[in-house]
Amino acid sequence: MNREYNAKISGIGSCVPDHIITNHDLEQLVDTNDEWIQSRTGIRERRKADSTQATSDLATEAAKIALRSAGISPEDLDAIVVATTTPDMAFPSTACIVQKNIGAHHAFAYDVSAACAGFLFALSNATQHIQSGMCRHVLLIGADKMSHITDFQDRNTCVLFGDGAGAIVLSNSDDGEGVIQTELGSDGRHGDILSVPAGGTRQPLTAETLPLRKHYIDMNGSEVFKMAVRAMENSARLLLEKTGYHIDQIDWLVPHQANKRIIDTLGKKMGLPNERVFINLQHYGNMSAASIPVALDEAYRSHLLKPDQLILMVAFGGGLTWGSSLLRWTMKSQNNE
Ligand SMILES: CC(C)(COP(=O)(O)OP(=O)(O)OC[C@H]1O[C@@H](n2cnc3c(N)ncnc32)[C@H](O)[C@@H]1OP(=O)(O)O)[C@@H](O)C(=O)NCCC(=O)NCCS
Repeated sequence: MNREYNAKISGIGSCVPDHIITNHDLEQLVDTNDEWIQSRTGIRERRKADSTQATSDLATEAAKIALRSAGISPEDLDAIVVATTTPDMAFPSTACIVQKNIGAHHAFAYDVSAACAGFLFALSNATQHIQSGMCRHVLLIGADKMSHITDFQDRNTCVLFGDGAGAIVLSNSDDGEGVIQTELGSDGRHGDILSVPAGGTRQPLTAETLPLRKHYIDMNGSEVFKMAVRAMENSARLLLEKTGYHIDQIDWLVPHQANKRIIDTLGKKMGLPNERVFINLQHYGNMSAASIPVALDEAYRSHLLKPDQLILMVAFGGGLTWGSSLLRWTMKSQNNE
């Protein structure tokens, strides 16, 4: 690698709300059942923030843990990038709110919007801030309060999503360790298969449009399923080809956690055994931009990720957006964290 600096993960943390919504709880709201949800999605429960908790609150908690694990202070941060589709408000950005909450007065801060693939889009930005020499430490957060845009009267979608936040600190490394490469893609032509149609400038939320429930997630599940598998497989294969790695060299696939069947199909197509695919969606459902950093954090804290291992992350989301990223893990497990 010919770069003067590279970006490596030096700290990680996550935060999910305490309140658990089980499949049985959802049986009380819509015509569904635990057996259907588990067999079609793999999800058993998800977390739901209460009405006082905004996306930035979850993001702030995850950020504090990540900073502690990196052993740096908020003042050391040069930038904060938050991937979210459920910001606290139109502006200030959620990243600026987190900046204020943690006291990172030397950082610039902004949000990235790429739905469930947002964390990898933000990772690409943050990596380049470091590789260019512009930043030494970047706080990167994926945070979403999906319950805010979930219609709890729609059984097609309400069983799938959950709330949470995951954060990493990316720091410069002069020995080339860390993020190897990230590959991103989008296709706006299929944006309508997964969207929140109202509440923006196209269809403002009014007393008339509110009962139409268009300010919630609208999804063509089977189309999304097919496109997700195809896009993630293509992205991961392209990344491996460009970087010269073979799938057999991958220690862990940490995919976006939307549906266990999507992940199993992807793993099978890529030729990866189940033991090298990390899945935690049974506890959280799809937390959109938070799903990959929360999964990374759990895998790390469960002592599954070891220094020098090769980690492949892949994601897919509304937009459509997708991406994959390859990194060499550098953090040692800490028993006392
Ligand atoms: C949504 C999803 C779980 C549906 O699973 P599926 O196997 O494709 O199921 P189908 O779409 O064929 O629906 C089968 C039936 O189950 C019904 N159904 C849908 N949700 C249900 C629920 N929660 N409980 C019970 N039945 C349900 C449907 O209405 C349909 O009934 P019908 O045949 O009478 O019309 C699946 O398509 C999926 O996960 N898609 C991707 C979604 C996603 O990941 N989105 C985010 C991407 S970032």
